[in-house]
Amino acid sequence: MSSLLITNADVVNEGCRFEADLFIEDGRIAAIGNDLQSRGADRVIDAAGRLLIPGMIDDQVHFREPGLTHKADFASESRAAIAGGITSFMEMPNSQPPTLSLELLEAKHARAAEVSHANYSFYLGASNDNIDAIRGVRTGQCCGVKVFMGASTGNMLVDDEQTLDAIFADSPLLIATHCEDTPTILANEAEYRQRYGEDVPMSAHPLIRSEAACLASSSRAVELARRHDARLHVLHLTTARELSLFSPGPVAGKRITAEACVHHLYFDARDYAEKGTLIKCNPAIKRPEDRDALLAAVSEGRIDVIGTDHAPHTLEEKAGTYFKAPAGLPLVQDALPSLFEHVHAGHLSLETLVQKTSHDVADCFGIEQRGYIREGYWADLALVEMAAPYTRTRDQVLYKCGWSPFEGRQFHACVITTILNGEVAYEHGRLNDQVRGQRLEFRPNR
Ligand code: DOR
Repeated sequence: MSSLLITNADVVNEGCRFEADLFIEDGRIAAIGNDLQSRGADRVIDAAGRLLIPGMIDDQVHFREPGLTHKADFASESRAAIAGGITSFMEMPNSQPPTLSLELLEAKHARAAEVSHANYSFYLGASNDNIDAIRGVRTGQCCGVKVFMGASTGNMLVDDEQTLDAIFADSPLLIATHCEDTPTILANEAEYRQRYGEDVPMSAHPLIRSEAACLASSSRAVELARRHDARLHVLHLTTARELSLFSPGPVAGKRITAEACVHHLYFDARDYAEKGTLIKCNPAIKRPEDRDALLAAVSEGRIDVIGTDHAPHTLEEKAGTYFKAPAGLPLVQDALPSLFEHVHAGHLSLETLVQKTSHDVADCFGIEQRGYIREGYWADLALVEMAAPYTRTRDQVLYKCGWSPFEGRQFHACVITTILNGEVAYEHGRLNDQVRGQRLEFRPNR
């Protein structure tokens, strides 16, 4: 494997910002320092004026393989992720068939080893009747156990009380939950259907998938985790009210952590008028006050991790009416640029952005030797141009579904180069399709 020298980079890492060179050999960061030219690398990248950050580790994506590959697949979406500076992803089990057994998990790993352009891991899904598979899962076989405590895309609701109790008591690995109370949502849906028939306006989505539905379900998850001393990670928080369930401060030692997603930090309910079903997702994008509270909670450490919940659907599918249009939007390519907008606006520090998209994700899940710019760690990196304003247009979109919710929006930051396991995987708009990701390795994370 060839060596690579990155010179004069503006490094943001572990709460510090400093200028440095990086020497990369055999896929790993061999040295961080000044004047490393004497190392004689095969290739030199002059990074003067560019930020160098650890590649984002996305703890929540839906890449649709197997079974839903008309929407997306591992190859297409991992390419888009790499173009957006995301070097590792953890993929959700609501494929077809759902990933409810160790065999199906291994099949996903085998497929990703062939075609994924980014590093990968997968969640084992929970159902009302696979507790034996959950009890049998071991560190390294997956990143965690995903529990839909609210129904969403796919038929994976776990609503049997005894099963939920057993999962929280016995899961050998981190439990990641989707929290929305389904009975509350069904009652709200019935009410809106009565009022509007099939023509429910998109603006009703956050009232149907309501704050109360989120709070009831998140509270229940936290209560179960406390009772069983389980390691709980609540995914995609969307409301200010849920935030008090979580503690501020560093992720180290926390038994209960929380994630927020890039679209819930960027869009708010006012955007339904322009974007309609394109930004329909579960949980719903809510009020501006909720978005602002989420952003503040990121800086406070009440939100531990920022992920995407990349969930592509085709434009044809999205063209349906409120009830028919599926929930979810494609995000990986634009996730970092959209987060840099908060830095640009002064609402998020660069150091916190890096912490929440890489360091704390690695620590939350116990990912080995990634997520930091450290000597000996894998060289998963992104070089970012901070002041290169551009408008996201559809022709630049790499997702199989061919559209982005950010079309027409202006970004200031642009990912120029992505380095994966020491190899240049993306540079100035071009992907190196030869580069493949690796399977993520883990420490115990229960
Ligand atoms: O909006 C969403 N879309 N939320 C989910 O929980 C699932 C996802 C999907 O798979 O489409």
